Amino acid sequence: MRTPRARRWSGRFSEPVDAFVERFTASVGFDRRLAREDIAASIAHARMLAACGILARRDAGAIVRGLARIRAEIDAGRFRWSRALEDVHSNIERRLIALVGEAGKRLHTARSRNDQVATDLRLWLRGEIDEIDRRLARLQRALLDQAERHAALVMPGFTHLQVAQPVTFGHHLLAWFEMLARDRARLADCRRRVNVLPLGAAALAGTSFPIDRRRVARALGFEAVAANSLDAVSDRDFAIEFAACAAIAMMHLSRIAEELVLWMNPRFGFVRLPDRFCTGSSIMPQKKNPDVPELVRGKSARVFGHVVALLALMKAQPLAYNKDNQEDKEPVFDTVDTLKDCLEAMAGIVEGMAPVPEAMRAAALEGHATATDLADYLVRKGVAFRDAHEAVARAVREAERRGCALAALPLAVLRRFHRAIGADVARVLTPEGSVAARDHEGGTAPAQVRRAVARARRALAARAR
Ligand code: ARG
Repeated sequence: MRTPRARRWSGRFSEPVDAFVERFTASVGFDRRLAREDIAASIAHARMLAACGILARRDAGAIVRGLARIRAEIDAGRFRWSRALEDVHSNIERRLIALVGEAGKRLHTARSRNDQVATDLRLWLRGEIDEIDRRLARLQRALLDQAERHAALVMPGFTHLQVAQPVTFGHHLLAWFEMLARDRARLADCRRRVNVLPLGAAALAGTSFPIDRRRVARALGFEAVAANSLDAVSDRDFAIEFAACAAIAMMHLSRIAEELVLWMNPRFGFVRLPDRFCTGSSIMPQKKNPDVPELVRGKSARVFGHVVALLALMKAQPLAYNKDNQEDKEPVFDTVDTLKDCLEAMAGIVEGMAPVPEAMRAAALEGHATATDLADYLVRKGVAFRDAHEAVARAVREAERRGCALAALPLAVLRRFHRAIGADVARVLTPEGSVAARDHEGGTAPAQVRRAVARARRALAARAR
């Protein structure tokens, strides 16, 4: 694994780098994750150099073949990484020189590791954003399937975590769907700013060679060329912005997880999670714990931390590149890994979860959840809303006194609170009547839920195209 330390820098240095400094400054332990992107960018760079007459065609050919071989070595796990060579870039370059000799020494013409690393990270992140988007879409599809299946299933809706008004389970799931739709839109927007090519900025000031940056951008699928060389090597906004998008998505997953944990609690008993997503206790044999959603909730914390870490990393950096920037990778990698895992976990849970209709309906009957419906009913009979509100409040108090639900009060008793109440009130007081009445765009009525699912499916299909 070791190459002699003196070889790291060349003639300028009179003694080998200190062993501690070698370990302290090395990044190859983590930035080797960028190897495939590093090779892709080097191939594009070499081809451009040849096309511009900066590098002989023969040399470019040897470089491309050598890099392809290195990629195969890495894929096969046969590549020997050396910490003494500091980072992924130097490791690959050194191996290339060993494989193809003189030509390999020419690859670094007109570039620097500063524009190289910024390019690699952007390429890598672009691919991961696409994968994250696919996983978000999978979770969204799972939500739509469940929402459609349970479009008419009644459950309590909450405010202040107190039973408020009946909603449908499908409607609740579509609320989650909307959060994820915004997460995807945010990431798509972030991707446009990630997808800009730094290469050509070289160390910071550009290069004295007649390069063609647009050609490299085209070859690598970048939408634009970074407009300023100083900015190109120092900018890490794209990483901060990605982490912020990921943090918001994790916040959403954490909220969803929190509801699942509550619903799984026997006091709620609203859903059963698939056993393969639950865990037992080492001491209490009876327990079935929601460890997976709890971990999703818990893991949101580290992603929030990465946003702050990246902001702090950048806040005092003068232009242009500083070695501080090497510290951007681990937070970005961990953000990607965490978000991807949590999306996988939530998709599995949502695909496998089963609601418990009796428990949901029973809870929807508690807490006089249809009190607002009774007030609305009176309003439709010509009563002013404030008066209706007061009459229903007194009826609720009577129900409380009797220890029964508002809906269970006999008609004669209800009429004592307002003469406008008639026999037709019965339907209004059921949770099914309550949800069916909220029949407008964005409302909880089963018909609206089905319509929203259909609309969402069309939007998903359009984005996939
Ligand atoms: N490993 C470095 C990083 O991650 C690559 C660029 C190093 N450039 C330099 N001048 N030291 O940022």
